[in-house]
Amino acid sequence: MKQLITLLFLAFIIVACGGGEDAPSEAPLASANKVEAKEINVKKIWKVRCIACHGIDGTMGTNGAANLKLSDKDMDYRVNIIKNGSENGVMTAFGEILDEDEVKAMAQFTMDLRED
Ligand code: HEC
Repeated sequence: MKQLITLLFLAFIIVACGGGEDAPSEAPLASANKVEAKEINVKKIWKVRCIACHGIDGTMGTNGAANLKLSDKDMDYRVNIIKNGSENGVMTAFGEILDEDEVKAMAQFTMDLRED
């Protein structure tokens, strides 16, 4: 019995030490809950791919980029424009860069920009 307890105790120590919770200083966003990994990617993608034209809050309008706070476009339209770019060719097509889920997440992100 004593052996078993010792074993359990050791197992506990190993598990406790093995957790990588205190991962070193990655980008601040990465410290958010892992369950929300999708959201982290969204913000990162937004910063890397979209801010140049749309600005941090979607209102910058570089190169005539649509004001995403005021946009009334639906999800389908957004998914399409993100995937294929704008008809006038100003907005880049991201279909080759982002996968289906990422495109949808980005479309949803721009929908959420509207609310505030
Ligand atoms: C090179 C500049 C540029 C970049 C980079 C860019 N956009 Fe755009 N975006 C535009 C322009 C310009 C329009 C308006 C196109 C039009 O009027 O047909 C637009 C329109 C949109 C629309 C439609 C809104 C509306 O009301 O018409 C969405 C949604 C959108 N962009 C999301 C994104 C996302 C998400 C990214 C990053 C993955 C991104 N854009 C990156 C320039 C850009």
